[in-house]
Amino acid sequence: MPQDLPQRPRRNRRTAAIRAMVAETRLDAGQLIYPLFLHDDPNDVALDSLPGLTRWSVDGLVGEVGRVIALGIDKVVLFPKIADGLKSVTGDEAYNPEGLYPRAIRAIKAAHPGVCVITDVALDPYSSDGHDGIVNDDGGIENDPTVEVLVKQALLHAEAGADIVAPSDMMDGRVGAIRDTLDAAGHADVSIMSYTAKYASAYYGPFRGALDSAPKSSAEGGKPIPGDKKTYQMDPANVREALREVELDENEGADFVMVKPAGPYLDVIRAVREHTHLPVAAYQVSGEYLMIKAAAASGWVDERAVVMESLLGIRRAGADAILTYFAPQVAGWLSEK
Ligand code: PBG
Repeated sequence: MPQDLPQRPRRNRRTAAIRAMVAETRLDAGQLIYPLFLHDDPNDVALDSLPGLTRWSVDGLVGEVGRVIALGIDKVVLFPKIADGLKSVTGDEAYNPEGLYPRAIRAIKAAHPGVCVITDVALDPYSSDGHDGIVNDDGGIENDPTVEVLVKQALLHAEAGADIVAPSDMMDGRVGAIRDTLDAAGHADVSIMSYTAKYASAYYGPFRGALDSAPKSSAEGGKPIPGDKKTYQMDPANVREALREVELDENEGADFVMVKPAGPYLDVIRAVREHTHLPVAAYQVSGEYLMIKAAAASGWVDERAVVMESLLGIRRAGADAILTYFAPQVAGWLSEK
């Protein structure tokens, strides 16, 4: 006997055409931002610690940007590995106009003027201590002197042609200071994507390996250096604190707010989404990438299906844009449909 059911939700799942009509969340290539690693070396080096990813020379980087543009990716974010000899306590190489980073921005913009270049503003690639800020003699991370350097770094990126600067350092007051500096220098059109709720996460491990940027936990005969970033990145236990950061960044002039990592913090993405009218970005970080890659390489999960589901989940939680190392692969899959 058939049941007497006026409502049968399965009717809306019956065919692919109907499912496409009732899908509440979509993913397209325009929502993706592709993170790229670079170094000052003529070789492009495949990264053992991040299978499928490469640390590019400047020429290689320009070529890779061209490749992904053809797939439909039009936003990239750059992360440099800086030679040890150029690192210092105060990270001054971060604002060297002839440094690797501004050269790379100019090279990409010269070859591909339409691509949106997002830059990372933080001292860790340039810090001999492996921290996002200046470490003092007691092992503390100095806030306000760090912001003075970050401002110079962001200005250099804008002068080199960055479309969006993305402070990832978690110092207090940096968004406002960067906004004031950019405006005063005639760069009112350069946007700020703030790493608003960036957690002190173990999922960044493979990234730090790729860039040799892990915090040093001790120094020979010198100052004590903290081996983690817990005095500036957020405690994974907290959500309300993320909303407090959102309010500050909004008031200081951020154009986008970001939650990082993404997958383990979907509740934070949702809370931030409901708390602001700004666009929300989420960063599917290196550890999230690697866990999927490792499971897929072992044949334990279907890579394409799991990647698409992970990104749809991040979108469903409320992210408008997603930074993901899978961006070119996803763009390829999306165009196959
Ligand atoms: C540092 C920075 C980190 C990442 C992006 N910018 C590492 C850190 O904070 O230690 C991590 C990205 C990833 O793991 O994919 N400013």
